[in-house]
Amino acid sequence: MQYATRNTQYSARAPTSMDIESFISPHLRQMQPYTPIVPFEVLSKQLGRDPSEIVKLDANENLYGPSPRALEAIARCGALHIYPDPDQTALREAIADYINLPAAHILCGAGADEIIDIVGRAFVQPGDAILDLPPTFGMYRFESDIVNARYVAVPRRPDFSLDLDAIREAVLNSNAKGHTLKLLFIANPNNPDGSLVSDDDLRRLLELPALIALDEAYIDFSDHPGHAGWVRDYDNLVVLRTFSKLAGLAGLRVGYGVFSPRIIQHLWKIKQPYTPSVAASVAAIAALSDRDYLRDTVRRIVAERERLRASLQELGWLRVYPSQTNFLLCRIDTAQAPGALRASGAPPGKQLKLALQQYGILVRYFDKDGLRDCVRVSVGRPEHTDALMAALHEMAGW
Ligand SMILES: Cc1ncc(COP(=O)(O)O)c(C=O)c1O
Repeated sequence: MQYATRNTQYSARAPTSMDIESFISPHLRQMQPYTPIVPFEVLSKQLGRDPSEIVKLDANENLYGPSPRALEAIARCGALHIYPDPDQTALREAIADYINLPAAHILCGAGADEIIDIVGRAFVQPGDAILDLPPTFGMYRFESDIVNARYVAVPRRPDFSLDLDAIREAVLNSNAKGHTLKLLFIANPNNPDGSLVSDDDLRRLLELPALIALDEAYIDFSDHPGHAGWVRDYDNLVVLRTFSKLAGLAGLRVGYGVFSPRIIQHLWKIKQPYTPSVAASVAAIAALSDRDYLRDTVRRIVAERERLRASLQELGWLRVYPSQTNFLLCRIDTAQAPGALRASGAPPGKQLKLALQQYGILVRYFDKDGLRDCVRVSVGRPEHTDALMAALHEMAGW
């Protein structure tokens, strides 16, 4: 018996003559599925390596892990047979204290991903447009497909900066093109390169007649305090945050959005009532109570990022982009790269990813325009940097 999963298709004939697939919304039948990372256990089997031998630098997780207080809180939380508080009172108060804004501005979900989905469903009707600024986080395109929006892309410049004039033009002329452009996603800092939008540029964008969802998943690793406080001045700004990166809780799925009161009242109406889970909420609250641990983790990650950058740059065949996050985007200078990476004719980024995989080191390759000679490497612990650099040096002698 074969079962369908996200990436496989069930091929057996249905037992009735009814064409049940035709009942699925037409836009979903044509939609491309989101490509998430390959699960750890599956990869470990594929590579024939124990999970403990794998250096996982492909998904921007926080390899320093959560505060011990978060782990203790999960172990202690007893009431797992009771639904979570749908008002998220304790969690929202803990976040309010952390970001220094009233809890009335905050709504939490199962990761920033759920907030992206709530915003998409609340603002966009089929045929409205969503503006995306690729290359960037793939979830925005995915959300656009789910809500059957018209997907409008204004590509970033080669250095990943925003083309403000083109964005302005896309928003202001959208009605003339027969659709209403409602929502603009900006990852700040951006994934996959790690660059920040300047405050001046953001102010200019906020003057446009569109909602800006500013995704600050990585803001804690940057030298900017973030824009959560700006929602008091801009009704059309939404700031997204997550516990996955800063607090090392990606597996528990907790994120939040910061909104103006005029927006948030409507979002509560469409949010599933019981996310995040009880375990996720108590862990997130405990993580926020351990400010020293959070500060220390950020300090260690930023220090390791700069050590990793210097080591990669020293190789002489990788151009490392400036990054304000816990990852580095590297462009391969093919002429200087080890011969083994030019052998098969496949895109250089893919060859580097596959070569590192043989050492049990996972990095992210994007099969997308402008990124085929790039890989993205998450910042790990010092021993992860050492393993990566040893593999890269060895490769030069292949
Ligand atoms: C820019 C950006 N936003 C959001 C997320 C997802 O956050 P969460 O784990 O809270 O859903 C990611 C994950 O990699 C990301 O890169």
